[in-house]
Amino acid sequence: MRKMTEANLSSAFAGESQAHMKYQIFADRAEGEYPNLARLFRAIAYAERVHATNHLEALGGVGGTLDNLQAAFDGETFEVEEMYPAFFEVAKLQEEKVAMRSIVYAKAAEKVHAGMYQQAKAVVSSGADLQIAGVQVCPVCGHTVIGEPPDKCPVCTQPGSSFKKF
Ligand SMILES: [Fe+2]
Ligand SMILES: [Fe+2]
Repeated sequence: MRKMTEANLSSAFAGESQAHMKYQIFADRAEGEYPNLARLFRAIAYAERVHATNHLEALGGVGGTLDNLQAAFDGETFEVEEMYPAFFEVAKLQEEKVAMRSIVYAKAAEKVHAGMYQQAKAVVSSGADLQIAGVQVCPVCGHTVIGEPPDKCPVCTQPGSSFKKF
């Protein structure tokens, strides 16, 4: 792909991905009071996901599952080793307490995610699917566990009973 089109599609992928996420969060916020507006937010969020998918495919960013696991591992590792440590130092310097907390939560979870992707690569490269019953995620900090949740989230102390199961 020509360089300028590639840069434009990358930017469009980022924008559509953000819109997808924002509209889902806006739908969550609208849910109780405006259920039909929430429905509209969710429908348009899905349309933005379709656009993001088309852009990513056009960019050649979707490969076989082993390639995708490697890309996922690389992304999480970059966030843990470079991006969030640097972002945290800036937030600390600027005494941005709320940002510091959201960065700490994300960095802790991404570290776990990188480990999960690394283990998954080993299993999938042997030709098998993962042998897991379920995965649970803390709704406050994103801490992720395979199997049963802990009594309390080790990162943010949220009760394990509130974890979302996948
Ligand atoms: Fe992650
Ligand atoms: Fe948590």
